[in-house]
Amino acid sequence: MEKLSFKNGDTMPAIGLGTWKSDPGDVHDAVIAAIQSGYRHIDCAAIYGNESEVGEALKKAFADGMVKREELWVTSKLWNNSHRREQIIPALEKTLKDLQLEYLNLYLVHWPIALNKDVTFPEGPDDFLSLEEVPITETWKGMEEAKHKGLAKHIGVSNFSEKKIRELLQQSESKPEMNQVEMHPYLQQKELVAYCKEQGIHLTAYSPLGSGDRPARSKKESDPVLMEDKTIHNIAKKHDCSPAQVLISWAVNRGTAVIPKSVNPKRIQQNIDAAKINLSDDEMQTIAGLDKHHRFIDGAFWAMEGSPYSMEGLWNE
Ligand code: A2P
Repeated sequence: MEKLSFKNGDTMPAIGLGTWKSDPGDVHDAVIAAIQSGYRHIDCAAIYGNESEVGEALKKAFADGMVKREELWVTSKLWNNSHRREQIIPALEKTLKDLQLEYLNLYLVHWPIALNKDVTFPEGPDDFLSLEEVPITETWKGMEEAKHKGLAKHIGVSNFSEKKIRELLQQSESKPEMNQVEMHPYLQQKELVAYCKEQGIHLTAYSPLGSGDRPARSKKESDPVLMEDKTIHNIAKKHDCSPAQVLISWAVNRGTAVIPKSVNPKRIQQNIDAAKINLSDDEMQTIAGLDKHHRFIDGAFWAMEGSPYSMEGLWNE
């Protein structure tokens, strides 16, 4: 299994289990199946609404000797309604309580979007706080504090454009160590990948399979179906593997981490087995030609009328 290395010597397995969209009733068994299949990286977030079920699974896995805490990489994310400096440690402590852990390996700012503290998803413009009211630099100070306290070994961001990372770097003492963004052959993010590499910031690819089970609010009729791509299917046939495995192998080959979500034990196993597939340079080049700059998770839900956020301001493109 490929690993991403951090400055202090810690390593993160390139393939992790995604838990976004995993129902609370399914995620416990999915985490157990993943650990039994050899996963040592689980990607979580407070907003997924299933961290206490993930926590039950982790408790069982440790108690039954399936894995030791120090062998496992656990990531979670700060939700948008907890961006104020004084909210960050309590939000992280809630996540740690739910996950039944003493520390996270990685804690990320989920979105560069701030919401009022009693709002989970915005329903109107009053639910938002602008980045002038709660600057990312304020949020980042709380993240740094979490790291200093040892509650998170590493800290980073998610859904950040190059511009937002540049602004953060100019005004902060420490760099994010990770940027987790949507990434797959239809959204290859070549400039962002090059910039993060230059800055020594790792990337994790979310929705690597095109997130077929994404919520209705993120579905458009014109969306392409990544898992049905003919080129990906042809490459899969050559390797006698599945299209999902080609997509996962592609992400690993590019030096990123990747977090395919599944609650199905066979697919969970299949997805980690993608670590054994080696795509040729020619195949990587062929896939490079598939880029459509297509976001499945385009963040339009943050850009409702009257919101201080716009799609252009979010992605800076
Ligand atoms: P399931 O959880 O039933 O396995 P993404 O990681 O891009 O968000 O995609 C997740 C979607 O892809 C889910 O619908 C998941 O369904 C499905 N999926 C996960 N692994 C595979 C696989 N190996 N083959 C086909 N579908 C998969």
